[in-house]
Amino acid sequence: SPGNRYEAENATISQGVVESNHAGFSGTGFVNYDNVAGAYVEFAVSAAAAGSRPLTIRYANGTSTDRPFAVTVNGTAVGSAVNAPGTGAWTTWTSVSVTVPLVSGTNTVRLTATTTGGLPNLDYVEL
Ligand code: GCU
Ligand code: CA
Repeated sequence: SPGNRYEAENATISQGVVESNHAGFSGTGFVNYDNVAGAYVEFAVSAAAAGSRPLTIRYANGTSTDRPFAVTVNGTAVGSAVNAPGTGAWTTWTSVSVTVPLVSGTNTVRLTATTTGGLPNLDYVEL
């Protein structure tokens, strides 16, 4: 199934702003984060049942420098940092996937920049 889409512009944003100047995004825009470690976005995602499922994260990184980020689910770190390599242009969007352990009901998923580049521009997550 296609799953549910959660737009970054509707999420809780720390150290970032909603923008729409780079085409190709879904919804009404994307989030441009400050170039700092610690910038984050937090989504409230719902799961019909407990279990591990792939979370798709759509981003653009118009630089040639990786923009890795940590993933936490309900406050617990999930694996190691997810990389977000350059996509060639700010209008070129791509997806990465990470397996996340969910409880039944509402889950808090946070993506936090781990390097001084901050997060890449973020469009949405889907699961
Ligand atoms: C540019 C680009 C932004 C991006 C930023 C960055 O300013 O227009 O969309 O977020 O670079 O490097 O993070
Ligand atoms: Ca940015």
